[in-house]
Amino acid sequence: MNAYSIVNFKGGVGKTVTAVNMAAILATEYGKRVLLIDADAQGNATQSLLPPGEYRSLLWLLRGEEPFYENLIEPSPIRGLDIVPAGDALRELDVDLIQGRQLHMGALRDLRDAVEEDEAYDCMIIDCPPALSPACAAAIAASTGVIIPIKLDAYSVRGMSELTAQIERLRAVYPDVRVAGVLPTMWYRSDIVEQGETLLRANSPVRVFDSRIRRSPKVDESTWTGEPVVSWSPRSAAAQDYRAFVAELMEVPVNE
Ligand SMILES: Nc1ncnc2c1ncn2[C@@H]1O[C@H](COP(=O)(O)OP(=O)(O)O)[C@@H](O)[C@H]1O
Ligand SMILES: [Mg+2]
Repeated sequence: MNAYSIVNFKGGVGKTVTAVNMAAILATEYGKRVLLIDADAQGNATQSLLPPGEYRSLLWLLRGEEPFYENLIEPSPIRGLDIVPAGDALRELDVDLIQGRQLHMGALRDLRDAVEEDEAYDCMIIDCPPALSPACAAAIAASTGVIIPIKLDAYSVRGMSELTAQIERLRAVYPDVRVAGVLPTMWYRSDIVEQGETLLRANSPVRVFDSRIRRSPKVDESTWTGEPVVSWSPRSAAAQDYRAFVAELMEVPVNE
């Protein structure tokens, strides 16, 4: 079973939008049973699919206080798509780390194994926070493929080598983790963005997907609606691009 973590240590690059739309496309258009895991205390993926509420989260798994992943799962309004939500409480993990509390960093890896054994889902997608926090490290440890959304500005392109270096370090501990690829997001036609893209494609130490996600006002709009952009505005540029991206991802297996 594939488990994709959506990782970039920067915020605002399109991680959550990518995670939610990938999950929705795989569930609705590929008929896959998808488990979306929100590993970000900001809980944006959770907010984009579930009504406001008090939900339990990964916190309990990482603290070793909840052995059964089933107890954390909420159904989403999208058929075939379930979610392990996140909320503010997840921030406590960072405090745990500072205070030296023992965390079960293999919790998500165990969850993946359990899901696989139960044949409960066909695919896992983990929306990560913008930092190498305990939740993000646990997510990477559980991934068969890391997807790195990148907004094409000079900062992100320069930050690339740092990001891959960090992934290399994690790989030393979790050898079967692979970078599935880099996904340019919020693309639009302009000299600067196109130069950034050329630079990225020429220099990236890892695969850059052929697909790129165009900037589209429908994405911001969709965040208000409780629907992913692929269902809110299926013909918008971003929705079309996310479908092309998922097709590309399904076509080419995860490799180095
Ligand atoms: N393709 C896109 N076109 C326009 N706006 C986008 C697009 N992708 C993301 N956004 C917007 O950019 C902001 C950051 O996206 P988000 O997925 O939350 O980033 P991250 O999870 O990396 O912090 C959000 O307001 C989102 O609506
Ligand atoms: Mg996010």
